[in-house]
Amino acid sequence: MLFPQGEFIKLKEYLVLYECALENIITRVEILLKDFVNFQAYNPIEHYKFRLKNSESIADKLHRQGHDITAENARNILTDIAGVRIICSYSRDVFHIAEMLKRQTDIKVRSEKDYVTKPKPSGYRSYHLILDVPIFLTDKSESLPVEVQIRTQAMDFWASLEHKVKYKYERRMPEHISLDLVDCAEKIAELDERMYLIQEIVDMAYLHKDPVIKDPIAIERAFDVR
Ligand code: GTP
Ligand code: MG
Repeated sequence: MLFPQGEFIKLKEYLVLYECALENIITRVEILLKDFVNFQAYNPIEHYKFRLKNSESIADKLHRQGHDITAENARNILTDIAGVRIICSYSRDVFHIAEMLKRQTDIKVRSEKDYVTKPKPSGYRSYHLILDVPIFLTDKSESLPVEVQIRTQAMDFWASLEHKVKYKYERRMPEHISLDLVDCAEKIAELDERMYLIQEIVDMAYLHKDPVIKDPIAIERAFDVR
C-alpha cells in the first residue's frame, strides 16, 4: 500500500515532528541511564532501541484497519509511528522505569497497558505506554504520541521469536505452536522471577555482615524461596 502523492508530502512533514518526539523520549531515557550509571547503586536498563515507522508500514496499517490512506488519518489514528523499546534486567525494573517516565510532568500518559501483570492470550508480556510528547517549534507547539514498550530481556527474546513465527505463518499459526509459545512465555516469566530472587539473595549476603545472613539456607528461608 502507498500514500497518494499529495498525502505522502504531508506525511513526510508529519514524520519530521514524530522524529522530534522520538528524540525527546530517547533523551529522557539517556538521562535516566546517566543517573543510574553515575549516581545509583544499580542500572536496570540493559539497552534500548527505537524506530520510526516508514510510510509503507503506516499505509499498510491504515489499510488493514479499513481507513483511507491519508496523512491526517495516520496522525489521528496511529499511536505507534514513533516507538521506543526499553529492555530491563528484571520485571520489577519494568514497573520502575514506567513510573519514572509517567511522573515526568511535561509529558501526558495517553494510555497504559500492563501486559506484564496481565499477559495477552498469546503469552505476550510487556508494559506499554503511549506518551504525548510536547514539541516546541519556531512558531507553535505540537503534541505527538510515542509508544514506549518496556520489557525484560527474556520477554524480548520471546516476543521476537513469536513475531517471526507469526510472520512466517502469515498470522495463521498452527495451534500446537501457539500452545508451545504460551508454555514458553510462562516458563520465561518463572525464570525471570527465579533469577531476580538469586540476585536479591546475593545482594543481601553482601550487604549484611551477619554470618547467619551469609548462610545460604538461612537466606533462602528468609526469602521463602521454596
Ligand atoms: P497494534 O497491535 O500495533 O495494532 O496495536 P494495539 O492497539 O493492539 O496495541 P497493543 O498494545 O496490543 O500492541 C502494540 C504493539 O505491541 C504491537 O505493535 C507489537 O509490537 C506488540 N505486541 C502486542 N501484542 C503482541 C504479541 O502477541 N506478540 C508480539 N510479538 N508482539 C506484540
Ligand atoms: Mg495489537
